[in-house]
Amino acid sequence: MNMPQITLPDGESVPAFGQGTWHMGETTSRFADEAAALKLGIDLGVTLVDTAEMYGNGVAEEIVAEAAKGRRDKLFIVSKVLPYNASQRGAIDACERSLKRLKTDHIDLYLLHWRGSYPFAETLAAFDKLQQQGKIRHHGVSNFDRRDMEEWIKTAGGATVASNQILYNLTRRGPEWEVIPWCRQRSISIMAYSPIEQGRMLGHKGLADIAARHNGATPAQVALAWLLRREGMIVIPKAGNKEHVRENVGALDLQLTDQDLADLDKAFPPPKGRTALGML
Ligand SMILES: NC(=O)c1ccc[n+]([C@@H]2O[C@H](COP(=O)([O-])OP(=O)(O)OC[C@H]3O[C@@H](n4cnc5c(N)ncnc54)[C@H](OP(=O)(O)O)[C@@H]3O)[C@@H](O)[C@H]2O)c1
Repeated sequence: MNMPQITLPDGESVPAFGQGTWHMGETTSRFADEAAALKLGIDLGVTLVDTAEMYGNGVAEEIVAEAAKGRRDKLFIVSKVLPYNASQRGAIDACERSLKRLKTDHIDLYLLHWRGSYPFAETLAAFDKLQQQGKIRHHGVSNFDRRDMEEWIKTAGGATVASNQILYNLTRRGPEWEVIPWCRQRSISIMAYSPIEQGRMLGHKGLADIAARHNGATPAQVALAWLLRREGMIVIPKAGNKEHVRENVGALDLQLTDQDLADLDKAFPPPKGRTALGML
């Protein structure tokens, strides 16, 4: 498999395709199956895994640890601190708890999950300390619009932000107006979450039409391939089912043509002006 890479602002290369974990760890009886799905993804070369202290109330991080057993060094693990834990002391404690659940000594990219009420200076002081201690390698943010980003990079330590994780897919093209170009101009990576709109977009005829042009391709693969061609973008579908994992990995082999892209633009037009950043 040919895994595309993107470059973080400090020059490090990371995979442009990863695995999400939201809603994993919510049902005890699914733990083994969810870990097996993640393991299969890793076996197939999808070594970037996105999780959060919020997911399954911490259990999703334990599932990631289970899937990572014996090969932590091959993985790029992303986790997130909840805004109400994002004080200077709180973010450090939250990170320590995540490290324990993840059974690792470092998180590769640690994000503020969304903007809360603690001043950015407090959260950034915590991120700086965690970075100095080697507990996180990069820091980032999530659900930040352009104004949030501007404020973050002006705060001490914020200029080294590596990524902004946002809701972006064919049915949510608002970020193309402002936050994506703003981040790209500064080489800040974008992580596109809910890339298949949690499955809701898969019945759209616009996707089926394009899939039918590519032998054996599926609507999910078309939606993911469309995102994968964006510069500086990391795409993180979640699949707790092995068949979905295999199907999603297949998107890496799908080459959309200029005609496909033009038809997708018609079927899923971007908004005609700036819109507020969506959030799920
Ligand atoms: N930063 C944030 O605020 C934020 C918000 C949302 C999401 N995220 C991150 O982004 C990841 C992805 O987003 P998401 O989980 O919201 O949505 P998603 O990846 O767009 O969709 C996941 C859903 O689609 C199903 N699915 C996956 N592949 C499929 C396929 N090939 N065919 C049919 N159904 C398929 C999954 O089912 P199965 O599980 O049964 O396979 C699951 O129900 C999350 O898991 C999380 O890591 C971050």
